[in-house]
Amino acid sequence: NIELPPKPETRSAAAQKVKIGIYFATWWALNVVFNIYNKKVLNAFPYPWLTSTLSLACGSLMMLISWATRIAEAPKTDFEFWKTLFPVAVAHTIGHVAATVSMSKVAVSFTHIIKSGEPAFSVLVSRFLLGETFPVPVYLSLLPIIGGCALAAVTELNFNMIGFMGAMISNLAFVFRNIFSKRGMKGKSVSGMNYYACLSILSLLILTPFAIAVEGPQMWAAGWQTALSQVGPQVIWWVAAQSIFYHLYNQVSYMSLDEISPLTFSVGNTMKRISVIVSSIIIFRTPVQPVNALGAAIAIFGTFLYSQAKQ
Ligand code: 3PG
Repeated sequence: NIELPPKPETRSAAAQKVKIGIYFATWWALNVVFNIYNKKVLNAFPYPWLTSTLSLACGSLMMLISWATRIAEAPKTDFEFWKTLFPVAVAHTIGHVAATVSMSKVAVSFTHIIKSGEPAFSVLVSRFLLGETFPVPVYLSLLPIIGGCALAAVTELNFNMIGFMGAMISNLAFVFRNIFSKRGMKGKSVSGMNYYACLSILSLLILTPFAIAVEGPQMWAAGWQTALSQVGPQVIWWVAAQSIFYHLYNQVSYMSLDEISPLTFSVGNTMKRISVIVSSIIIFRTPVQPVNALGAAIAIFGTFLYSQAKQ
């Protein structure tokens, strides 16, 4: 009974699995922390356009410093790269602001329940805009996803139309972002980490004028005074935490997108929402009715069926 050592290719396949597993676990943990601080900030300082801008600004700054100090190697990019990145950045900006606006109006858990419907958007966009067709089971798996989200929405105790629409718009925008990013990253020498850094910088440039137009310095100054007087100086740390963790979780998610298909990515993303939904309900003591929880569970189960049908 001599045990042979595993073949090199089996070993490297196992190592790859472990690596993706570590990426996923880190991505989900960072995302939970981001969501908690983001909501704490939005409760005290309800200016989602500014907080979205600060998250992008913080990430851009972290990466510019890393490149300048050679902690990370700066990417070699040309005009063509930034041109291809532009639509991705537009989609990223819209998806990010829309999700943050949503979370400023409703419970974090509700935004993420609606966002668990992202695979349905992915199929509909691929079918109607890209002309891709799928086997019947894929379409059938959309029924529990859409039905579960709808049930959760109609039974949500604190339903708010802006909160609901923000999450829906974010779903649509992120489907485009993921399709375009995967295309943009294919065959390019820019790593997932640097690709996301460039995406942050471009999104920041796109978002800043809109944030000033929609909210603007006067509102921010008045809101900031209120937040400081009600919460105290710790609100500064909450803003810093939400910005830093926003960048980190996205960076890790792009590092995994580098290695996996958009499908695996979107399934991993939906599974991530389970940890966010559960932890935010516990931390913010969000009231949930059983039928509301049932809707969320059906939607998430639908995503699982979808991933099976798509394989
Ligand atoms: C955002 O602010 O961009 C959203 O919270 C992110 O949504 P995601 O969970 O799809 O990354």
